Amino acid sequence: MPAVEFQNITKRFGELIANDDISFTIKKNTVHCILGENGAGKSTLMNILFGLYKPDEGKILINGFEKIFKSPLDAIESKIGMLHQHFKLIDDFTVLENVILGKEVSKGLKLNFPDLKQELLHLIIQYNLELILNDKVSDISISEQQKVEILKLLYRDSELLIFDEPTAVLSPIEVERFYNIIGRFKSERKTIILITHKLKDVMEISDKVTVLRKGKLVYEADRNEIDIRGLSREIVGDIEISDVPYKSYHMMNYMDTTLELKDVSLKKNKMKVLDTLNLELRKGEIHGIAGVEGNGQSEIVDVLFGIEKTFTGTYDKLEKDISLVPDDRIKKGLIKEYSIGENIILKKDDKGIISKKLLNGISEEIISKYDIRVNDISSELGSLSGGNQQKVVFAREIELDNTTLLLSHPTRGVDINATAFIHSKIISQRNSGKAVLLISSDLDELISLSDRLSVLYKGKILRTFKQSELKSETGDVNEKVLEKISKLMLGINK
Ligand SMILES: Nc1ncnc2c1ncn2[C@@H]1O[C@H](COP(=O)(O)OP(=O)(O)OP(=O)(O)O)[C@@H](O)[C@H]1O
Ligand SMILES: [Mg+2]
Repeated sequence: MPAVEFQNITKRFGELIANDDISFTIKKNTVHCILGENGAGKSTLMNILFGLYKPDEGKILINGFEKIFKSPLDAIESKIGMLHQHFKLIDDFTVLENVILGKEVSKGLKLNFPDLKQELLHLIIQYNLELILNDKVSDISISEQQKVEILKLLYRDSELLIFDEPTAVLSPIEVERFYNIIGRFKSERKTIILITHKLKDVMEISDKVTVLRKGKLVYEADRNEIDIRGLSREIVGDIEISDVPYKSYHMMNYMDTTLELKDVSLKKNKMKVLDTLNLELRKGEIHGIAGVEGNGQSEIVDVLFGIEKTFTGTYDKLEKDISLVPDDRIKKGLIKEYSIGENIILKKDDKGIISKKLLNGISEEIISKYDIRVNDISSELGSLSGGNQQKVVFAREIELDNTTLLLSHPTRGVDINATAFIHSKIISQRNSGKAVLLISSDLDELISLSDRLSVLYKGKILRTFKQSELKSETGDVNEKVLEKISKLMLGINK
């Protein structure tokens, strides 16, 4: 008997059909990947399974029984857990408080804290999650926040686990650890549904794949029937798959510095999060930062952007206006309740003197230029799919035309073609003389785009590589350097 059976699921949002008559089954104790372009309907389908949305048509069978969940609480009762594309943690609460939130309390039981803590500590060690229960969620990195969500699933003893793009926020070593956790789940006879844009994930851990395109199921296959090229084709359909843009070597005539940090140190909760850090952004150059999330990346951005002022050392800010694509698009970059159009022009209208008509014109132009898939620019931003929200932030910040760009995970959650588009945009920005800081957890992305690449570990830059060290003149990646970078990211400097 399958763990889940979708029967003719249709879900509409107004005119738009997000899920169109979808039927397939998910076998017990397998890893089942759901693939598809941004806006294909993946999250919608999983949100239906988890009781967040009601389908307009069709039904869902769980372990052979038809289930209609009125809310996620019902789904959780049925031992279904979901790790959402945008986490649902409360910033001001600790890890512990977030994990227990909504469980015992809803049943009116009194919590036995010592036992509970013991149980959670046991899970943390068992699954190698490296979390501190008393840490406040606002103080931990996105990848640690993800671990909190995983701990929540474990604590609730979910049997069916839904992961919506879990590896988008993880660096290579963390991805490995995540695969190990999934392997463990499988060995405990759990069933795992995984939404991802990374076909490497699929090749690594899937048993079966289902591909959605424009709301319809278009392809299904077992692990042994697939390869990356073929899968990409199924995902994009007839559209040309864009290759990673060719990035020529070129010597810039101007190498003026726009921002510079000299011996900058910063403490948070008495811990050093930046440690005598030196960093210089120059016009016409992409400066990449490699590192496991949580080693000072967000603090560098906060200092450069001017939000964090309590550092020691010197910050020379030679350019006033800075564009920022933040690591957390929902919390730091967008206003979910505002319309899509309003979000796009958010920073253009600060003096309130541009007419509404003109603003609409501007946002429509940007939407088409960046291929943001929207039905109506006056609908709430929150109604866009995750990848399309990311495109909104990226487009808005590039279009501000500032000389300095701080880009944190610019391709987080975007599909194959949109990733290639964003890469080409970053390169053309650099070619037109912009200074770019590129923070990413994707080493391939960093190596193919960076003119200089610094490795960040515990708030310190351990080493900076030049483009010529990263790649040969023919564009082949220097494997030895790659290995070196991976080691440095873990603090191994030998
Ligand atoms: N609450 C909503 N209101 C209106 N439209 C919505 C809502 N949620 C999703 N949609 C629309 O449904 C379609 C499918 O969105 P969904 O979030 O399922 O895509 P996705 O496959 O998860 O994409 P991504 O890879 O970008 O996360 C999109 O066109 C989206 O704009
Ligand atoms: Mg989604």
